[in-house]
Formats: sequence, C-alpha cells, structure tokens
Amino acid sequence: MIQGGSRLRNLLQSLRPASFPSKLANYRGYTAPPASSLQLATQPSAYSDDKYADVDWDKLGFGLTPTDYMYVMRCSKDEDFKEGRLNRYANLEISPSAGVLNYGQGIYEGTKANRAEDGRILLFRPEQNATRMKRGAERMLMPSPSIQQFVDAVKETVYANKRWIPPPGKGSLYVRPLLLGTGPILGLAPSPEYTFIVYASPVRNYFKEGTAPLNLYIDEEFVRASPGGAGGVKTITNYAPVLQAIARAKERGFSDVLYLDAVNRKYLEEVSSCNIFIVKGNHISTPAASGTILEGVTRRSILEIARDHGYQVEERAIPVDDLVGADEVFCTGTAVGVAPVGSITHQNRRIEFKTEGSLVCKELYSTLVGLQTGRVEDKKGWTVVIH
Ligand code: COI
Repeated sequence: MIQGGSRLRNLLQSLRPASFPSKLANYRGYTAPPASSLQLATQPSAYSDDKYADVDWDKLGFGLTPTDYMYVMRCSKDEDFKEGRLNRYANLEISPSAGVLNYGQGIYEGTKANRAEDGRILLFRPEQNATRMKRGAERMLMPSPSIQQFVDAVKETVYANKRWIPPPGKGSLYVRPLLLGTGPILGLAPSPEYTFIVYASPVRNYFKEGTAPLNLYIDEEFVRASPGGAGGVKTITNYAPVLQAIARAKERGFSDVLYLDAVNRKYLEEVSSCNIFIVKGNHISTPAASGTILEGVTRRSILEIARDHGYQVEERAIPVDDLVGADEVFCTGTAVGVAPVGSITHQNRRIEFKTEGSLVCKELYSTLVGLQTGRVEDKKGWTVVIH
C-alpha cells in the first residue's frame, strides 16, 4: 500500500523537524509529543504538509496501513484518566503478565473520519462510541476515558493523521480506540494499570466482495454470546472465538457467519462483524438488543434514518423462519457500512433475497453516507467537523 522510499530516505524524513506538530499547536487540546516519544520511523515518515499520504487509494481494502501518530493515555486502577498525548505510531512495550494478554481485559471501538468534497474532515457520532466504551468498561471492571476525553483523543488522532484520510469517494480513515488492562497481574483480578490508545488506518470495503451482495451461513454449532455473558459489549474476547466459525464458512465460499441465539437456537442475533436487518414490504426489523448482540452505532443510525424515511421499524426477536419471505436482508456496521445480503444458507437450504433494482438498503445507505461525507445536510447533529 505504501509505495517507494528507501530506508535511508525514510530515516532522513523521520529526522526532519516535524512540521506537523507546529501546525497542530493551534489545534485545541493538542500537546506536542516530546522528542523522546518520536521514535525513528519504520515506515515513510510524515511530510505532513502534503495533503495526501503516498497510498494507492484505488487499492484500499480493509487491511492495516500504519499511519503517523497514535494517541496514548494511561492511568492506574483506582484513578481516572487524566492526560494523554500523541506519540508516533509504534509498537507497545507491555508486561507478559498484562491483564489484557492473560485474561482478555480489553475493549475496543471503531469509528470513521471522512473527507467531504469541500475539504472538511467529518467524524460520525464519536460520542456514541465513547458512551459504549464507558458501558463496556463498567462491565469489564476498567476505568474509562470520559466522553470528552474519548472524543478529543479521536479528533486529535484524526487531525494528526489527516494526510491518510482518503480522497472523497475513495474510503475513510478507520479509527480504532482501544482500552487495555496493561498492568501486570497473575491471579484473576483487574489489572493494576490501564492504557487507552487511538490509532487509525485508511480503509475502504470490509468484505472482499466489495459492494457485491454477501452470502451468509448460519452455523448451527457455534454461538457468539449467551445471556449473562458479555455479548452486548465490545470486549476483545467476543472476537477471537468466532474466527473458527468464519474460517469454516469462508472455506465453503460464504462471506461470513450469521449466529442464532444460544438458548433456543432459533432467533437471529448478528453476523461476526456486523448487525443484521430484514425488510418485508414497508417493515424493517432488526434483532432487539437484549444483552447478547452488539448495539452498533450504524445499526442505531439506520433505525432512525429508516423511521425518517417512513418505514415501520421494529427491534424484535426475529425467528430464523422469518428469513423465508423477506424481501431484502442487509448488514450494518462501522467497518462494513450497509451491505446487501444476497443469500443465507441454513440447514442446507439457501434462501435468496432481492439485490437488484431499487433497494431499501441502498436508499438508507445513501442517506447515511451522505450525512457521513457532508453531502446530505446534517439536521441531527450527528457529524463533528474537525477541520
Ligand atoms: C467495526 O465495525 O468497527 C468493528 O468493530 C467490526 C470489526 C470486526 C472490524
């Protein structure tokens, strides 16, 4: 993804006085990283006056393209987070006995920054991610950044890495806030120290299918979450356990797995990486959030946009049998966006859905992307302009 550049050139670039911190000095909340935190770059360094990083924007997928800076803030167990700062993007040094490495005490978020046609940089509802991280942190017995600290950290990270925000129409800067138990602990107990990090990578389509319809597989063996568990929070421990199910589905040519509820094995829950919606006539339904599904920011936004567009919207228990007779099915997520589903295979039966012509999911997605990229006027106060 990153092209050209000899090691020597990179080294020289990394030793140039960073033009970008001085520019950032005027940016609210920014404190320039001390020289000691600016490590020698292992990647082409910031000529931050350039509008765009050296990326082939037409080849972007959902792989990691490391960017220039990440935000780091630390605190100990019984304190609140106080002050963080931007550091060069680099590996972390972490104790082998860190809570996150041994017991999975970690949560993450995902949000995106987009470049509008008029040059503005827009975030989409970052306070929703901040609130969800706070809720998740309570469940995982971790201190969390305040809503303001979270949003400011996201803004600073995006602004610092703005040359990595794709041109309009070519993708987004995916922003990944992480809250990790980084202090050493041997017995099963909360970590004594915590680190909040925000890093970013330019991305485009999540699935290799691009914008083509997904083919989902209902796995009867695996469940994603069960009542009383932590399926409703974005803990990192919800993700590795679905890798086997995804790998098995991919081997069979499917795009991803749709999970059923753990108790009855009958109701739709969610896909490994996104929420699910079904459309029948004027009715749009999505599984109710009752603790076992992740309440996506995109899910919530699409529910509201669908209501605004005059659809009957329902959050309810959706029996798998309701797929038969559904007109459309689509998935929503920050990484995924809104993706049409062409088929769902359940017990060797392939159920197909409409993917051509005028689609409800396209109509809703067009409004969502319009808001996210500044093409549609934001009367809801969902977008945050950072530049
Ligand atoms: C997101 O949509 O931001 C997610 O966290 C899903 C992840 C599997 C990429």
